[in-house]
Amino acid sequence: MKTSSPTLIFKKAPIVSLHGEPTLLFNGQQPSLLEALEIKKVRIFSECRSGFCGACKTKVLSGKVRYFTEPLAALEADECLPCCCVPDSDLNLDLSAKGADTPARAAPPTVFSKQALVD
Ligand code: FES
Repeated sequence: MKTSSPTLIFKKAPIVSLHGEPTLLFNGQQPSLLEALEIKKVRIFSECRSGFCGACKTKVLSGKVRYFTEPLAALEADECLPCCCVPDSDLNLDLSAKGADTPARAAPPTVFSKQALVD
């Protein structure tokens, strides 16, 4: 009798960008897109944090999200509620990266001259 081995499927962690600026790699450590954005200091308004009020409504410029709680707030086809969803693909959101802790804004590495290391 032949037994089949389990098929392992690896899925790349989605990259979340704000107006095209890569901001975070969603590795699943945060339960929602909203919390992942907040950790990166992205300014996003929220109230109920459960998909009811619509306060966190955000336009999705490209990509898909997956809801873990069915949203109750009315949404257009190109909008999402980050409080109750996670990225299901790379995402580009209509949110400002201003003030956010993005990789592009990280301090450049310190470069020492060869002479400074000798002295
Ligand atoms: S904070 Fe209320 S729907 Fe997201």
